[in-house]
Amino acid sequence: MALPTDLTFLAPPGETADWRLILLCDAAASTGIFEKLPGTAEELVARTGLDPESLRVVLDALVALGVLERGDGGAFRLAAGAPEPAAMPRIRHHARALKRWANTIEPRLRGEATAAGAAVDPEMFHDALAANARAVAPEVVDVCLQRFPEASSVLDLGGLHGEYSLEFTRRGLTATMQDQPAMIDVARRRGRLEAAGVELFEGSFFETVPDGPFDLAFCSGITHTFDGEHNGMLFRNLRRIVPAGGGVAVVTFLRGRSPMTSLFAVQMLVNDNGGDTHTEAEYREWLSEAGFAVDDTILDLPGQGARSVLFAT
Ligand SMILES: C[S@@+](CC[C@H](N)C(=O)[O-])C[C@H]1O[C@@H](n2cnc3c(N)ncnc32)[C@H](O)[C@@H]1O
Repeated sequence: MALPTDLTFLAPPGETADWRLILLCDAAASTGIFEKLPGTAEELVARTGLDPESLRVVLDALVALGVLERGDGGAFRLAAGAPEPAAMPRIRHHARALKRWANTIEPRLRGEATAAGAAVDPEMFHDALAANARAVAPEVVDVCLQRFPEASSVLDLGGLHGEYSLEFTRRGLTATMQDQPAMIDVARRRGRLEAAGVELFEGSFFETVPDGPFDLAFCSGITHTFDGEHNGMLFRNLRRIVPAGGGVAVVTFLRGRSPMTSLFAVQMLVNDNGGDTHTEAEYREWLSEAGFAVDDTILDLPGQGARSVLFAT
């Protein structure tokens, strides 16, 4: 059984990975089954301490899905249909979305309080989004530098994995990446960004931003996670550090722009943090109230889960 190329929950309708495979692989990874392979069911029980009956059911289901196979002597091992280890963070992030969609859409519809979801594991979140960003960063940075060809410094807000910062540094810009302390910790431990010359800045961008000034404030994947009040605050903070001639790039899902943005909006709904796929008109209002002039043209980024980019100066 071939795995779909897009293992995220943002794959087009009808092309998402089998939800059973996503949930079973997530459970097998989180309980340590995968790392204890190969082994018979008895050996895996002894190595993992898991419930024998439940483990048998899960192992058989993973065989049925082509993720595992049984070799001579009954030992389970990874089969040709197993996801690559590098795909696991995306699968686990997808599983987290599935759980959240399953438990939260109905209470949100009824206007009831939703239970807090499982805390995001910063490492898994980092790796899942890094894999997505790596595939698209060159193209996203291309369009930014076509719009701001003279830019020599960039602030990557909510940069998380820093894939965009890295791509900007490859083009000769100096990059600073800001994120919350837990995410900056992961970036520091991994060491890649600092080694490439990316400066790390920790703290909430609603409270503080580095002094700069910066030729480009790059906001990818953050504004749809907040409401208008927060986005207004963020853009006002950016106005202080982006001088005349510099600009802002907002990479986001714009409501009504494509069917995929409507599906992404559900993810924002279940995250229950005030986020949404805001409209182009809302972005224009928030940015102009903060003192930016928004370009007339909005660019759609093809093959990127229907994201668009707005530029403002
Ligand atoms: C969805 S991720 C986007 C990551 C990356 N920019 C991308 O496009 O792939 C949102 C990031 O914003 C960060 N973030 C959220 N609120 C923040 C805040 N108040 N200050 C700084 N970073 C924040 C999160 O920690 C997370 O790393």
